[in-house]
Amino acid sequence: MTIERILVIGAGTMGRQIAMSCALGGYATILQDISAQALAAARTELEGWAASRVAKGKLSQDEADRALGLLTQSTDLASSAAQADLVIEAAVERLDIKEQIFAQLGQAAPAHAILATNSSTLPSSRIAAASGRPELVCNMHFFNPALVMKCVEVVRNEQTSDATVQAVTEVAKRLAKQPVLVNKEIPGFIANRMMGAINREALDLAAAGVASIEDIDTTARTALGHPMGPFELMDLVGLDVVDFIAKATFDETGRQEDKPHALIVEKVQAGKLGRKSGEGFYPYN
Ligand code: CAA
Repeated sequence: MTIERILVIGAGTMGRQIAMSCALGGYATILQDISAQALAAARTELEGWAASRVAKGKLSQDEADRALGLLTQSTDLASSAAQADLVIEAAVERLDIKEQIFAQLGQAAPAHAILATNSSTLPSSRIAAASGRPELVCNMHFFNPALVMKCVEVVRNEQTSDATVQAVTEVAKRLAKQPVLVNKEIPGFIANRMMGAINREALDLAAAGVASIEDIDTTARTALGHPMGPFELMDLVGLDVVDFIAKATFDETGRQEDKPHALIVEKVQAGKLGRKSGEGFYPYN
């Protein structure tokens, strides 16, 4: 299975950086979104990111130009899908929307095209049937910020073929990522399952008044060697996303400890979603 052209669906935080990673890996990449405004914002951010890498001497001007040249945009799903060998869907985390997208992809993408979802909460088996080609469907889960984080979880469902797993794994390697194979569709896969446990303990410590969020974060950084403390990281990921992941995990596991924590619910209700809204556990200006 030769992958040459990639379609990334969704120009949000994840999709835009996944698309740029694909272009940097040398793939002809289309970033598709129904919103022309989101596409324009993505282009501006990625051009700025590339310029800063060039200024820091971490990317040559030629490499930046090549990647930006390989990255095109479209608001039309069907015509973009018709050109793709691999689709990475990074649209909103809603089952009904993903089902619609996968049904459209099943019609519009070439018969050989692999259809992957970046979803962290919806296992691909939920949307595989809609595509009509379940053996070519899997999760390909990137981490935020996707241009920086190395790990990609490749999650197979019961029908995913070995050839699909192998092709997606090869793509991840060509993006200079570190693929890991998840053999069972458990809620949260590997990383979010571990992150959930750390967040839960951190939130419990703060709620019990054991320490300030600043000191809990400092402890994670300086005692455990984490690049960010759990509160800083939740602000980066988005507290609405943390809330959503917890709900989705709880729905699947039924474990009380997986339920969204009261401190998260409180923040989300107050519209304090983290960096993206200007305030979460910390203020951002
Ligand atoms: N987009 C692109 N690049 C970024 C970036 C962003 N949002 N934020 C930082 N970077 C780049 C910087 O440009 C810098 O690049 P160079 O080293 O090449 O100059 C590099 O990352 C380091 O950045 P900084 O020096 O500004 O700051 P830092 O050293 O603290 O690193 C960080 C920032 C990479 C985010 C680091 O703190 C980190 O790794 N944090 C943990 C992130 C993490 O755990 N992510 C997973 C979240 S869970 C998830 O995504 C799953 C899900 O389903 C929700």
